[in-house]
Amino acid sequence: MTKVLMVCLGNICRSPLAEGILKSKVDTSKVTVESAGTGGWHVGSLPDPRSIEIAKKNGIDITNQRGRKFSTYDFETYDYIFVMDNSNYHDVIKLANTQEEQDKVQLLLEEIFPGENVDVPDPYYGGTLGFENVFQMIEEACDKIAERLQH
Ligand code: 4NP
Repeated sequence: MTKVLMVCLGNICRSPLAEGILKSKVDTSKVTVESAGTGGWHVGSLPDPRSIEIAKKNGIDITNQRGRKFSTYDFETYDYIFVMDNSNYHDVIKLANTQEEQDKVQLLLEEIFPGENVDVPDPYYGGTLGFENVFQMIEEACDKIAERLQH
C-alpha cells in the first residue's frame, strides 16, 4: 500500500480537495490518500462549503472528510507528503526528524511546475473563483501524481 498525505493550513479548503481529487484518480485498494492541516483550528470540522461545492460540481464527494492536525508521527505513516504552499512546507519540515522524513515532503505544484516553487494559493478569504482556480491546479498536479503512482 502506498500512502499519500495532502497538507494545507486549515485542512478545510485545499487539502480536502487534493485528497478527494487524487482518490478519484487512483486504485484505492493500492493507494490511500488522506489530508491534514498544520493548524488545529478546524479539527473535526467538515471541509469548507465552497470546497464541498466545487468538488461536487466535478463529481467528487468530500463530505466524509473531517479536519485533523498534522503530527510528527505522520512521517512514519506516509510515503509522500504533498504540501500546498511554502508556508506549509516550512511548518511540516520543522517537525521532521531525519533527512529521509524531509525527503517525503514536496510542494504539490512541483508536479506541474518543476523547480518553480509555485504555491496553491489559499482561497479561504477569496470568492468562488479562487476555489475553481485552486481545483484546476490541484487536479492537474493529481493527474501527474496518479500517473506516477500507477507505475
Ligand atoms: P486551507 O485554508 O489551508 O486551504 O484549509 C484555510 C482555512 C482556514 C484557515 C486558514 C486557511 N484559518 O485560518 O482558519
